[in-house]
Formats: sequence, C-alpha cells, structure tokens
Amino acid sequence: MGIGIIGTGYYVPSRILTNKELESMVDTSDEWIFTKVGIRERRIAGPHEATSDLALKAAQEALANAGVEPEEVDLIILATSSPDMIQPATAAIVQGKLGALNSAAFDVSAVCAGFVYAMTVASAMMQANPQYRRAVVIGAETYSRILDWTDRTTCVYFGDGAGAVVLGQQAGDLGIQKTFLKNDGRGAGAIRYLGGGSRHPASPETLAQKMHRFEMNGREVWNFATTACPLSVRQVVQDAGIQLSDIDWIIVHQANINIIRHSLDELGIPLEKTYTTIEKYANTAGASLPITLAEAHAKNLFRKGDKIVLVGFGGGLSLGAVYLNWGMDYAGGQKALVQQPAVVGDWQKN
Ligand SMILES: CC(C)(COP(=O)(O)OP(=O)(O)OC[C@H]1O[C@@H](n2cnc3c(N)ncnc32)[C@H](O)[C@@H]1OP(=O)(O)O)[C@@H](O)C(=O)NCCC(=O)NCCS
Repeated sequence: MGIGIIGTGYYVPSRILTNKELESMVDTSDEWIFTKVGIRERRIAGPHEATSDLALKAAQEALANAGVEPEEVDLIILATSSPDMIQPATAAIVQGKLGALNSAAFDVSAVCAGFVYAMTVASAMMQANPQYRRAVVIGAETYSRILDWTDRTTCVYFGDGAGAVVLGQQAGDLGIQKTFLKNDGRGAGAIRYLGGGSRHPASPETLAQKMHRFEMNGREVWNFATTACPLSVRQVVQDAGIQLSDIDWIIVHQANINIIRHSLDELGIPLEKTYTTIEKYANTAGASLPITLAEAHAKNLFRKGDKIVLVGFGGGLSLGAVYLNWGMDYAGGQKALVQQPAVVGDWQKN
C-alpha cells in the first residue's frame, strides 16, 4: 500500500489587509509590492484567533473532505513558525479542540519548508508502523502577531492562514512516491525571530530590543530560494526516476511570484503547470503549500494519477520537495464550511 492525500482543507481569516492600507502604515506602495513580490492583499487573524484556531478549521475541513471522524485520526503533525506559545505544541492544542483523542500530536519547526518536512515525517511513520493509519498534516501561521508593522522590509510579505491534508492508505502507484529534505544552517540567521531560549552576544538592552522581532535579509533569501527551489525539484524527480516534463502540477511555496517564475523558468516547466495564491493570501510561511494545494483541489484542477510536486524553502535555511501521484476523485470540492465573506477594515483597532 501507498500513503497519499485523502482529503484537503484550508482556512483564511476573513479580514483583508490590502497593499493600499499598508501604504498608510509604512513607506511602501501597491505597485512596489505587486511588482517585486506579486501580492495584492493578505489575511489577518481576528483578535480572538490563534494559530491553533486557524489550524482547527483547516483540519476540520480536510477531515470532512476525507470523510474521516476526529476519533479515527492516529497522528497530527503541525508545521508552524508562529505557534500559539513556546509550549505545549500547537498540534496538541489542536488535538484537544478537534477531539482527536486517539492520536499522537507534535509540531515540526522548519519554517517555510515545514509542510514538506511534516508530510515526509508523517508518511515515513505511516510506512514504518501500520498503527498510524490516518494522519492530519497541517501548516498554520499567524505572522501578523510576530511581524514588526513599522518595518517595510518584512511586514509587506506575510499573511495569516492554515491548510491541512488527511493522509491515508492508497494503492501503491498513487500517493507519496519520493521526498527530499535538506538544510543549510550556515544561513540560519537570514530569516529569524528571536525568542525562547535564544542567546545573543549583545548587551541585555540590545537583546531586549532584538527579542520578539522578526528579521529577514531579503537579498540573501532571494539567492537561496532561487537555488533551493530548482535543486529540490530536480532531486526528487531524479530520485523518483521520472523526468521534469512528466510533472503535471508543481505547487511552490508562495514566497514571491518572481521566485516562482525564476525557478520554473530555470526548470523549463511552464507557468500553466503551477497554481498560485500569493496575490490574495501573501506568504503564509508553513501554511502556503497546503492552502494552495487545497484551493487548487477545491477548484477541481487535479485528475487521479496526476504527478504533483510540492516544493518548500525558507528559514533554516530549509528546503525540500514531495512528489506524489494524486489519488483522489473529485468529490465536489470542500464544503464551504468555514470560509466567511472577506472584510476590509481597520484590523489593528479590533
Ligand atoms: C526583498 C526583494 C523583493 C528585494 O528585491 P530587489 O530587487 O533586490 O530590491 P532591492 O533590495 O534592490 O530594493 C529596491 C528598493 O526598494 C526598497 N524597498 C524595500 N522594501 C520596500 C517596500 N516594502 N516598499 C517600497 N520599497 C521598498 C529598498 O529600500 C530599495 O531602495 P533603494 O534602491 O533606495 O535602496 C527580493 O530580494 C526578494 O524577493 N527576496 C526574497 C524575500 C522572500 O521571499 N522572503 C520570504 C522567504 S520564505
């Protein structure tokens, strides 16, 4: 038997923050953000919504899509770099809220590659131990809580949201065929959020200023991402013994539309073979892959047997890819269970 996706779901908060609104907050412009990054707007979690709340709604939708009850879940793995709290794991909080009380639950911390890491761990555990028959793999983030909203070099890029898949057994020629994971810790300082047990050589005063501040070296990340993305795709395709031209769909981490264009161009993969959500949800870090995959599935883009590559890269510097053969029949898309009408407004005052 193989291990594959048997349900997908996603949730984005209803509140929209447009580039136009950002123009009144920092020295930026809609044109700069759209041209340089490909974003028009992003979603911001409501005052009472934690990362676990977004994750819960995505997981509920994925379970409904799969026709699986919470008690039937054996494993929950959640990828996040903006957890509810340092401990316990956000997956543990989600497990309790979901009522999936027969499952193990833990978080994976690999920032924007977190979802491919979590998929890899979940499928390996399921292959190794048949006790794990159904897993929920979630990517969920609330970067609005960790961003510095006065820093235009970081705050314009990110948004909040969550996506989830249910993994279950499928025929061996369907489901996850190969995975590839890597990290280059020499670049661990390129994207970071100091907190928890971090040590810093600076004075306590400087440390206090630096703590709880999200930092990103945009140029370094660009150089890394435009190398890591093609490298990961080539590696997983080579390991699987298929050709780049065999790929039907490639879902890329939604960091920057220009990184996606640049990478696909280098790989010789036409843009028609990808699906993007960055223009409306921005970079949702560990959540961007499952959100984009779930929305593409809801739009009925995939056919059974389609060869799909998911590729992630980001803080760590982490990178990786999952190659799978799509194993689901289209069942009318996800229930519009949790998607609420979008609201534009003064989110910071709520
Ligand atoms: C950050 C990035 C867009 C910069 O692109 P670039 O073409 O190298 O642009 P530059 O760094 O030359 O900056 C151009 C100008 O825009 C300015 N700028 C930076 N942020 C800005 C913003 N939000 N709005 C307006 N102008 C901005 C810069 O200060 C610079 O001004 P200057 O020429 O007067 O110095 C690009 O490096 C990138 O996409 N990096 C990856 C970021 C990413 O994806 N992060 C998520 C990782 S998972």
